[in-house]
Amino acid sequence: MNKIIIDHVSKSFSTAEGKKLAVNDVSFSLDEGTLTVIGGENGSGKSVLMNIISGLEKPDSGTVTCYGKAGLVFQEADTQILGETPREDISFGPKNQKKSRKEIAAAVEDALNQTGLVAKSDYPARFLSGGEKRRLAVACMLAMDLPIIIFDEPYANLDFGGVKQVNALIKKLKSEGKTVIILSHELEKCLGLADRFIVLFRGDKVFDGTPQDGLKENLELWNIRNPLTSYTHVQDLVW
Ligand SMILES: Nc1ncnc2c1ncn2[C@@H]1O[C@H](COP(=O)(O)OP(=O)(O)OP(=O)(O)O)[C@@H](O)[C@H]1O
Ligand SMILES: [Mg+2]
Repeated sequence: MNKIIIDHVSKSFSTAEGKKLAVNDVSFSLDEGTLTVIGGENGSGKSVLMNIISGLEKPDSGTVTCYGKAGLVFQEADTQILGETPREDISFGPKNQKKSRKEIAAAVEDALNQTGLVAKSDYPARFLSGGEKRRLAVACMLAMDLPIIIFDEPYANLDFGGVKQVNALIKKLKSEGKTVIILSHELEKCLGLADRFIVLFRGDKVFDGTPQDGLKENLELWNIRNPLTSYTHVQDLVW
């Protein structure tokens, strides 16, 4: 069953240099319960597309149909934190959803537990590390129990352990039947989780298919590193 239908969506911005086309006639639909990785170099239109899917921005043309609400985990973890503490921050979502006090308390405890933030639950949120802030953003999504979750560059600034923690949470969301989108150029960290792989390049959708088929493409044409390129010598360890 289709969960998200993007139909001929375009978006441009007026800039000093003229009109800048950020998303160019992009169409695709995603099935419920699937995990899609949308890759693309810096400035390829990933975040703009996410803002359009979630309704934060309107397309110039085309339509977006979502069956259910989309939750966003933003690229900049800091911009998302509104509460003084993780506990307060996580409670805003279920409060807005008009849940009962008891339900809010249960949702907050559950989200703190799942993201490993119990020990930091009453810590000033601004003193959390980058990885902890990202887990806090995920905790907020868990507490709201939304059917669609979009992660914008979820691995930015995370170390090995942090990436694995975020991926464990993403796998859990998928196992619960959520429809998940990961926007990232770091294919080596997430493509193994994906059912579907889409590549954006300068606002165009240039690939849409299985991860297996995507890796057969010459991804470097679109400035994305093919993660199956292996390292065998110390001399290989340079980008
Ligand atoms: N509000 C805006 N005004 C003008 N240009 C914008 C605006 N928002 C985005 N753009 C431009 O649209 C293009 C796509 O931006 P977007 O943020 O979607 O890229 P991205 O793929 O998410 O890149 P990154 O990997 O760096 O996060 C960029 O060229 C950007 O400069
Ligand atoms: Mg972006």
